[in-house]
Amino acid sequence: MTNGDESRDAKAGVVGWPISHSLSPAIHGFWLKKYRLSGSYAALGIRPGDFDRKFSALREQGFAGVNVTIPFKERVLEHAAEITPAARDTGAANTLTFRKDGTIHADNTDIAGFARLVKSAAPDWKGRDGPVVVMGAGGAARAVVWSLLAEKVPRVFIVNRTVSKAETLCAHFGNRLEVASPGELRGIGRKVTMIVNTTSLGMKGQPDLAVEFEPGMRSAIVVDIVYNPLKTGFLKAAERNGNRIVTGLGMLLHQAAPGFERWFGVSPEVDSELHETIARKLR
Ligand code: ATR
Repeated sequence: MTNGDESRDAKAGVVGWPISHSLSPAIHGFWLKKYRLSGSYAALGIRPGDFDRKFSALREQGFAGVNVTIPFKERVLEHAAEITPAARDTGAANTLTFRKDGTIHADNTDIAGFARLVKSAAPDWKGRDGPVVVMGAGGAARAVVWSLLAEKVPRVFIVNRTVSKAETLCAHFGNRLEVASPGELRGIGRKVTMIVNTTSLGMKGQPDLAVEFEPGMRSAIVVDIVYNPLKTGFLKAAERNGNRIVTGLGMLLHQAAPGFERWFGVSPEVDSELHETIARKLR
């Protein structure tokens, strides 16, 4: 699908600070080349103190839209005229489109990214089949919970170091959520269909997320949204227990697709070649 020639040479990028670690330029660069588009996608490092001035200038510089990463995902909502329900409910946006009428459309595509990751890696998983455990209660947890509730998961247990943050998340999303302690996992483990890590634990340079997997939890699919390293200590422990595991890189790739389509007019494919290309950058 294309929006016409104008979008094929559009200008887009990712704003954040720091930005050098971002894989978004490599993902969009892969697609621009694959679909032979003359558009461009740049890493745009903006210091937090310069944000309002530099962000406002992007449209005049000809940008069709931008991805947004840490630390700006929340504050960009102040600039948007149209905020999707996903972005509103999670309080964060990662994909902005600068529209011709001068307004900004803000979306949170991490939600669709998580849903597509699960659909492609575990197509037989059905949300309604049972409860899910979410480790963490930050911004990434909000996106994952939103996606799980949309998949009709009957109950979501939130396990977080800071219990008050887990309680806030549960209060925000309603009565299908419940706070659980790590110790309670053993009891609820038999019923859960999925366990998801949304914390930053397990990332390169961070300690692993320690979960005591046991045979009774074996039927749960174990997902980590951390993608660097590709297979975290949490996933390795789950694998040793006999659980099916899903690595997180696919979520990063899938969350990028809606922006690419909006700015460049081509619906891009998340295929094994893209996966391999980006995975190589992590080694
Ligand atoms: P993000 O937007 O990436 O989700 P965040 O909002 O800062 O980032 O949330 C980070 C999550 O990782 C939180 O659930 C955090 O737990 P707390 O709410 O207790 O801070 C979790 N996390 C980060 N470092 C952790 C650690 N050392 N031990 C346990 N949990 C940790």
